[in-house]
Amino acid sequence: MSKIFALVPAAGCGSRMGSELPKQYMLLAGHPMIYHALVTLCASPEIDTVFVVLSPDDAYWLSYDWSPLGDKLQPLFCGGATRAESVLNGLIAAELERDDWLLVHDAARPCLSHKQLARLIEALRDDDVGGILAVPVADTLKRADAECRIVQTEDREGVWQAQTPQMFRTGLLLQALQIAPNVTDDASAVESLGFHPKLVTSSSSNFKVTYPQDVELAELLLGVRK
Ligand code: C5P
Repeated sequence: MSKIFALVPAAGCGSRMGSELPKQYMLLAGHPMIYHALVTLCASPEIDTVFVVLSPDDAYWLSYDWSPLGDKLQPLFCGGATRAESVLNGLIAAELERDDWLLVHDAARPCLSHKQLARLIEALRDDDVGGILAVPVADTLKRADAECRIVQTEDREGVWQAQTPQMFRTGLLLQALQIAPNVTDDASAVESLGFHPKLVTSSSSNFKVTYPQDVELAELLLGVRK
């Protein structure tokens, strides 16, 4: 039977947070941000190993104690210039079997819940293509011009916000990322091969911490879950 692995690209610098410290290491509810998603991934009985892709010159990882997370964690110091390149480099370094499943999860989504993770795996483990956690867009969508004036209201029917984890067979993902190196998520690479990944309904609590104001919300959510 195919094994299931997780890979967390964490080689970005998080420039939109306006901080010197890379976003994944910013303190969030008493831990570096990446810690929270790693706890959830490492606790899943379905997941074999959790790879963390770090920048080759990462100066922070080794200064933290990761031992409370158990022995599933494996850092790989092979991050690239983009998220897609970091995932591709990690995939190559991890040396997995083509049919193994890989769940790629952003370090900047600390509020992933055990339930969301289990639902994704349950929905996709027998799927031919794989898929992603996502939420249907609830707000009305506006297209803006350079002066932040509304040019048009977009149709939101059938529009979803992509989240992570994104779950694909390692062989397919490797092939996809080699062909489409400029994508912002893994599903886009798989789509570019002509496949149609499945959307598995998640909730907005699994949001990406991008701007300074997101930190407070993430801390509130993590505090409530304790
Ligand atoms: O910048 P953004 O929030 O889109 O990054 C998404 C994820 O990709 C983060 O976990 C970030 O650390 C990672 N990343 C990476 N290598 C890069 C750029 C981003 O691993 N060169």
